[in-house]
Amino acid sequence: MLAKYKNIIVLILLNYLTSNLGHKIQIYGPGLQPKNIVMPARYFVVNFTSIEENSYSRDLISNFAVEISGKSLKNKHCRVWANNLDRKDGTFIVRYKVYETCIELSISIYYKNKHIHDSPFKFEGPIQPDQCVCPEEDVNQWLKQYQCPSSYDQIEMDLKPFQQLLMKNQVQKIIKNYHKPESTSFCHYVIKNNEIYRDCYGKHVGFNMFADNILLSLTRKVVLPDMELVINLGDWPLVHKDTEPLPIFSWCGSNETLDIVMPTYDITESALENMGRVTLDTLSVQGNVEHKWEDRENRAFWRGRDSRAERLKLIDIARAHPDLLNASLTNFFFFREKEAEYGPKLPHVSFFKFFDYKYQINVDGTVAAYRLPYLLSGGALVLKQDSPYYEHFYGKLKPFEHFVPIRRDLSDLPDKINWARENDDKAHQIAQNAQIFANYHLLPQHIICYHAVLFLEWSKRIKGEVKVGKDMTHVPQTKFECQCDASVKVKHEEL
Ligand SMILES: *[C@@H]1O[C@H](CO)[C@@H](O)[C@H](O)[C@H]1NC(C)=O
Ligand SMILES: *[C@@H]1O[C@H](CO)[C@@H](O)[C@H](O)[C@H]1NC(C)=O
Ligand SMILES: *[C@@H]1O[C@H](CO)[C@@H](O)[C@H](O)[C@H]1NC(C)=O
Repeated sequence: MLAKYKNIIVLILLNYLTSNLGHKIQIYGPGLQPKNIVMPARYFVVNFTSIEENSYSRDLISNFAVEISGKSLKNKHCRVWANNLDRKDGTFIVRYKVYETCIELSISIYYKNKHIHDSPFKFEGPIQPDQCVCPEEDVNQWLKQYQCPSSYDQIEMDLKPFQQLLMKNQVQKIIKNYHKPESTSFCHYVIKNNEIYRDCYGKHVGFNMFADNILLSLTRKVVLPDMELVINLGDWPLVHKDTEPLPIFSWCGSNETLDIVMPTYDITESALENMGRVTLDTLSVQGNVEHKWEDRENRAFWRGRDSRAERLKLIDIARAHPDLLNASLTNFFFFREKEAEYGPKLPHVSFFKFFDYKYQINVDGTVAAYRLPYLLSGGALVLKQDSPYYEHFYGKLKPFEHFVPIRRDLSDLPDKINWARENDDKAHQIAQNAQIFANYHLLPQHIICYHAVLFLEWSKRIKGEVKVGKDMTHVPQTKFECQCDASVKVKHEEL
């Protein structure tokens, strides 16, 4: 992943040598390549920390400004919304959303009303909003432009059992073995000529909107090879290791199953609805945390529903050690009969408020707790329960580097919190590593890349002609007026 930033790092070093104040400030990120990297919300980082602290620390936020403007094809100004996230450590994340095709986009970054670094950054060609259906024909070219890694260990491991499959047989077997309408729900997807079709099985298929959304998002950006795949809409992985390995894509993996893991619908949706419907994502959490490490309480904090017995145990531990842990349940559903004992349930606390505390606990719910990406992004020390469940990125997380492991039965939780209190420097370092990890692996660009590489690799494992079943439902793109060849039009106008 470092290689990805190599050019940028070299640039930064060069800038360092030229060494006027404005150039010591680092500015980097996919939002500075708006033509190649199309996202619902584009973003980049501005890092002031290499200039003398006392020359910026006071009123940094009030002296920092970003202005993004351009022309639309019809009106004078194109519609862009920008939003600065202050990480309160001398760095900012700037996000912006483009609502229509913009030409001559310009990004100006000011400190004390002066342009810094190479600001203004100017982009000539058309910059497209994410809703445009303007797919790049060459998928490998697109992966390069989008700065995606060429492979992931987890994907290679997950796809290993599957070679040269005839999907027709596989889909039939999956339906035969796993179609239990009361307990499982899944969809058979076909991608043909970059259009999406599906057939769903089960009672609760509403979650197919999440699978639709990522497939639609990808096919707007790049022409995917024809392929078929089966996506599990439930949380539990389905394919036990002692059964025939059948290819089912799931949001959560486990030590006992062979499901092919995709990023969870939760983090995927937060990438696709960034600066939109979803307010909690791996970027927003970094700018909405109120306190720096030093100012957070040195206790652990936890809120959640009663979806696993260990979550009740957390309440016992909090009662025995109120000085170490503030934990409460917010809902009773699985253990309703225990509400009197483990209640009262407390109202939800804004996720951003979790970070008033230094230590955060990640305990499984029905499966892996999908909040882990946000806990890591918030720069918390994460105490993570040992678990058979995992998400697509867990394989890269290292104990005592990115998190502190706790036993599955939580029996060592008080000891581990005490360890963190007594080793504040180490705890702080692990918390910082966690945030760096999130910034390398869990931002929207990374989530989109993981899906793209996964589906591309998958398409290489299946053989035979991909056919659209006659009763399949077509999943269309939302209509959106867009000119993919806007550059042609611009040229004409210049003539
Ligand atoms: C900001 O720059 C400092 C100094 O070069 C570096 O240590 C830190 O990792 C950078 N942070 C970010 C978020 O880029
Ligand atoms: C636990 O956290 C809640 C919500 O922030 C707070 O109102 C309450 O006072 C805390 N309890 C203790 C014992 O610190
Ligand atoms: C699951 O596998 C991981 C990785 O091999 C291991 O660290 C973990 O302890 C296992 N957990 C359980 C509960 O089986």
